[in-house]
Amino acid sequence: MTNLSETDVSSLIAAARKARLNAHAPYSRFKVGAAVLDERGVVSVGCNMENAAYPLGTCAEAVALGTMVASGGKTCRAIVIVAGGDRLITPCGGCRQRIAELAVAGTRVCCAAEEGDAIEMTTPEALLPNGFAF
Ligand code: THU
Repeated sequence: MTNLSETDVSSLIAAARKARLNAHAPYSRFKVGAAVLDERGVVSVGCNMENAAYPLGTCAEAVALGTMVASGGKTCRAIVIVAGGDRLITPCGGCRQRIAELAVAGTRVCCAAEEGDAIEMTTPEALLPNGFAF
């Protein structure tokens, strides 16, 4: 596991901000973007995708992690989550479990925002202590 550079984090934030603009969120009007860096150095992005049948809506993190897996990525070195304005959000409970599934030692979770430079760095273990594992 190589260290995550500031450049990595900046480019992941930019990618998540860009993906957020494509969010399909007509019901909550709460757009979220995510970007994942995998073990190959490939970046996969996602945005939330809501549905008129509300429970079918999907979080940005789930879309980004699914895209990573579909393109051949196995593990998540870092994931960035971006909501609107200057608000930092953390992943929902279900996405904490999804992140834990694909995390490795040293995986970083970065909560950033559409505007401003504020970021909060955390870890899958801090977000989901004592989480379920098969
Ligand atoms: N949402 C995400 O995409 N990621 C999160 O971590 C929290 C919530 C989405 C789900 C829904 O489309 C909208 O934000 C409002 O909850």
